[in-house]
Amino acid sequence: MNTFVSFYWSTVGRKFWTALTGICLVGFVIVHLVGNLTLFLGNQAMNDYAYFLETALHGGLRPFGELALLVLFGGHAFTALSATLQNRRGRIQAYAVSRPAGGRSHQTLSSRTMAVTGLILLTFLVLHVAQFRFGVGFEWHVTAESAGTAHPVRDVYRTVVEAFHTPLWMGIYLFVMVLLGYHLRHGIWSAFQTLGTITTPLRRTLFILGAVLAVLLALGFLVLPIYVFSMVDPAGPFQSVPSALGGAR
Ligand code: HEM
Repeated sequence: MNTFVSFYWSTVGRKFWTALTGICLVGFVIVHLVGNLTLFLGNQAMNDYAYFLETALHGGLRPFGELALLVLFGGHAFTALSATLQNRRGRIQAYAVSRPAGGRSHQTLSSRTMAVTGLILLTFLVLHVAQFRFGVGFEWHVTAESAGTAHPVRDVYRTVVEAFHTPLWMGIYLFVMVLLGYHLRHGIWSAFQTLGTITTPLRRTLFILGAVLAVLLALGFLVLPIYVFSMVDPAGPFQSVPSALGGAR
């Protein structure tokens, strides 16, 4: 246990956990994007997908998945930010001792902005989950076939359509999805490097693959608000009815 804790707190340990949780989160983002593509199939398909998430494994998938995501996002942000602060402190001390004669830093712009893009993504995530997962700020609607049953299902599709027809939210999503691509562009490559999976012959290939994956994910998420805003009628037809229930379904 002691060894685990001291590894976790070491510089190498923090980088390792940041990389490992980051790779797991990339896995989640891919699955999430695939699920969100049901939006192109319309009302029924997207709500069926939301219903599947709600009821899979006798209702156990969702709480387990959400707890795992909380640990992953929280752990990733914590180790990444503390490693960044540790680095910065180390650099200030090294500078005070050695006073280099104005040499250029070896850090790139994208690696320097990881903490900023990460913090913006984290803030977005809090708003996004409140909005789309818990329906905060939206009138509550449940799917017509589930209304009046013991398990009313929220019309997730309708929430997404309403959100993406609000210019402010549409703009926020577009901005954040570009930042997501930028964050992943450096993050995927850096994580592979930290986990020691990059051998010299694979270096260039993995670098390109990481960049391609980041661009594809950002584009995939960008297409959704643009499609809804330009192609989906904000007035419906929706297959849901107002509900006074509220809550997290
Ligand atoms: C256009 C972009 C996006 C759309 C349309 C979208 C859509 C959704 C929807 C509809 C839900 C609620 C699902 C439900 O209640 O059944 C949701 C939840 C969630 N989204 Fe997104 N999402 C987008 C981008 C992202 C991004 C970029 C991330 C992460 C970096 C993310 C992370 C999450 C998380 C963590 C949840 C909560 C999962 C849960 O509790 O089941 N989303 N999203």
